[in-house]
Amino acid sequence: MTTTVSEPQTPSPTEYADQISLRPYAQAVRKGDFDLTWFNAEPGGGIWGQWGIKAEPSERGITLMDVDRASGLYPGPHAPPGVTPRGAGNEPGLGPRDWDLNDKHELWGENLVTLYEEATSRQWRATEDIDWHLLEELPPDLERATCQFNTFLTMGEYLVNDVLAPWIPAFNTYYHEIKLFLATQLMDEARHTEVFRKRTFANGGGLGMTLDLGNALAAIGATKISSGDGPGGEPGKNPLFSTWDHVSYAIHVVFEGAILSMFRFGEYLGKTDLDKQIFRMVMQDEARHVAYGTMHLKYLLDNSPDADAQLERLNDLATASEMFFLDLFFMHPATVESCSILAGDGLDGIEKGLEIYKMAYRKMREEYLLRTESAGLNRREACMLPPDLPF
Ligand SMILES: [Fe+2]
Ligand SMILES: [Fe+2]
Repeated sequence: MTTTVSEPQTPSPTEYADQISLRPYAQAVRKGDFDLTWFNAEPGGGIWGQWGIKAEPSERGITLMDVDRASGLYPGPHAPPGVTPRGAGNEPGLGPRDWDLNDKHELWGENLVTLYEEATSRQWRATEDIDWHLLEELPPDLERATCQFNTFLTMGEYLVNDVLAPWIPAFNTYYHEIKLFLATQLMDEARHTEVFRKRTFANGGGLGMTLDLGNALAAIGATKISSGDGPGGEPGKNPLFSTWDHVSYAIHVVFEGAILSMFRFGEYLGKTDLDKQIFRMVMQDEARHVAYGTMHLKYLLDNSPDADAQLERLNDLATASEMFFLDLFFMHPATVESCSILAGDGLDGIEKGLEIYKMAYRKMREEYLLRTESAGLNRREACMLPPDLPF
């Protein structure tokens, strides 16, 4: 014999209206008896976190730094287990909520708040703020190399978003700064995807060859959400991306550090004023992402409860990340050759251009080593990025 379990029936709109009108709160309000629990801000017994705060506007307006200063609500080392924004009171009976990241050392960077304010005030528009009319027709080899380089970049930009976006709900709301900053980074990367895509279609070219970057990231679980030990994926399967310290190091420090160097190189390589302008614009944004990653690395190393173990973990991760991105990026024929054609001013100059590409690689590697050193991670001896490319 089978038993049928009856599902609760969804009421019709009329039945639902009748049901809610019987609720105690609805009945009380109809008699003029308001709840006003939220209204009680009296000291000692009130429901508000704080009352009487006045953040003074500075010349720029009211920044998050002004609010912290006025309220004294600077982030502490551990967040309470709940959904409460820093400084708010709690509804009576408000339950806890688990977050993946609840400790300041796991996510903080001393520049996080100022970077967020800078990001919001320096947003720009790929549609209107780029002087598209400055485009000039290029010889086919240079247009093709420009479009291939931009194809690689447009892919890299949206893949960063695929990796980072699932992490926003991992951070305890108490540390709103990291959630807000990452939201600005997602918008920056969306704009970068957009501007590089537009460039490929704006001058008689188009999108070139897709690199394996997307599949490679998916293969290690970086772009997949699962119920593992973090939004990055299943524990043990994807050491590069399973925890935030790994994600931030691999993306903000290694990959975006390299991309920032490539943008600088791109400005040099740009064959029209418009191409140079695009690289100048994206560089401002990218510098913020790398600045967070570097300062987060420093904060993590300075404040980790087990500094030696953390350093060892990061060194292992750095080794894996350096090899991963060397293959996907610096040694990829489409990147090497498109950049070399641009640097050599045409297909005929590819060999001369390769020498310039190799110099740019050496500069990128040195910038990476200086950046990690400044954060307290010395990779000079252990770095898997060879001092010179093998060609
Ligand atoms: Fe970007
Ligand atoms: Fe970025």
